[in-house]
Amino acid sequence: MDGNGRWAKQKGYVRAIGHENGAESVREAVESCAELGIANLTLYAFSTENWNRPKLEVQLLMKLLVKSLKKEIKTLQDNNIKLQAIGNLEDLPKTAKKELLEVIDKTKNNNKMTLTLALSYGSREEIISVIKALSDKVKNNIISVESIDESIINGHLYTHNLPDVDLLIRTSGEQRISNFLLWQIAYAELYFTNILWPDFKREHLYDALINYQNRERRFGKTSEQLSK
Ligand code: FPP
Repeated sequence: MDGNGRWAKQKGYVRAIGHENGAESVREAVESCAELGIANLTLYAFSTENWNRPKLEVQLLMKLLVKSLKKEIKTLQDNNIKLQAIGNLEDLPKTAKKELLEVIDKTKNNNKMTLTLALSYGSREEIISVIKALSDKVKNNIISVESIDESIINGHLYTHNLPDVDLLIRTSGEQRISNFLLWQIAYAELYFTNILWPDFKREHLYDALINYQNRERRFGKTSEQLSK
């Protein structure tokens, strides 16, 4: 969800206004995905690197998170959406963590869609946590080195209950991954758009999905093999 700051700057507003309008786009994206029957949506809301932003901006983003959670709990319940979070949640301010855990708990039995917020998330850090957990299990003879395979690694990622990513969308014209789900996007289709996140509305999501539907996902095979 990139481009909140540039959107505000283009309009002569402070960055905070960009983030507030970005939160509106979050709601529209979530509702649209739920309507379409998309089972999993993961939003990169705050990276481990985002802690290095000016203190005031970080505080504002955390406040906005709390405000949005309070406001959107009804949308989540009405649409049967389960909220979960990945990342270093211990880093979040107390109030943000409390509100987040409350909404996670209240929506835990919803089953139409899983909305995952990546908060204080970094993919390399996630991979390090997997390596540490597996090393520990090897050291304590719980698993053998030989048994380590893709499924064991998948099972130790924060995203253990999610499938691999099918489509990754990045807004604002940047064509980077920026430490997001590096393991999980091995075969994802990448979609980059110049639209800034606060301007990313339903029709832009549809454009991305139609583009995705027209791709041929070969997973290393040939086209001929796929058509058999
Ligand atoms: C990137 O734009 C956006 C963020 C770092 C924050 C994302 C947060 C929201 C969309 C709002 C609240 C989120 C939730 C889940 C309710 P940027 O600030 O990097 O923009 P720039 O690259 O143009 O400066």
